Amino acid sequence: MQVSWTGARIRLRPFADFAEYAPAFTATFGESTEFWGHQRCPIDKERKRFEETGAVDDFRGQLAVERRDDGLVLGSMSYVLYRNGLGANIGTIIRIPYRAQGYGVEGKRLLISYLYQTRPLARIEAITLTHHRAARRSVELAGMRREYVRRRCTFSQGRWGSWVAYVIFREEWEQWPDRPDAHRA
Ligand SMILES: CC(C)(COP(=O)(O)OP(=O)(O)OC[C@H]1O[C@@H](n2cnc3c(N)ncnc32)[C@H](O)[C@@H]1OP(=O)(O)O)[C@@H](O)C(=O)NCCC(=O)NCCS
Repeated sequence: MQVSWTGARIRLRPFADFAEYAPAFTATFGESTEFWGHQRCPIDKERKRFEETGAVDDFRGQLAVERRDDGLVLGSMSYVLYRNGLGANIGTIIRIPYRAQGYGVEGKRLLISYLYQTRPLARIEAITLTHHRAARRSVELAGMRREYVRRRCTFSQGRWGSWVAYVIFREEWEQWPDRPDAHRA
């Protein structure tokens, strides 16, 4: 079943096939950045999971961020539900040429709306690094607020990094005046 959630400029939808999904997976786990060192990137295991689930199952999902104008895949949005089903953690990757144009903010607002509309969650969080300005700004502009900091959680490129967690509770999302209607399309 092909289902998508549509916003003003982008839509979130499942990846069409593994060829489309693989670059998004390696961008998440296989590429070292100034913020994150190299991570484990088990692509063969992931191929099997994609064949079974299309990268969307009951507990986690990775969705393509597709530009409505031309169908280009700009990046991906992901989520992982807590084991007890009461909350979720979300993440965003926008491909380099399309960054700083507001797509990350719109992707988060759509994913938050989609998750609250389809699941009985109480909270949605996003965790990044305190010195990752773009990620912090993007979650703040998406309507999340800072909840806590955990120091010395990462070590990359010769420096310690601290995690900062942002949260939006269901009742806060319900008060958005311009809540995207993440309807199926
Ligand atoms: C973090 C990321 C998702 C943000 O998405 P984006 O689409 O580029 O961000 P948006 O256009 O929605 O912009 C949100 C804000 O961040 C700012 N911003 C975006 N890129 C920036 C950069 N490289 N440096 C500084 N600020 C930046 C924007 O200017 C905007 O703030 P402003 O309105 O005050 O100017 C994106 O940069 C990305 O994919 N990075 C690599 C993956 C990653 O690190 N993900 C987060 C993991 S925690």
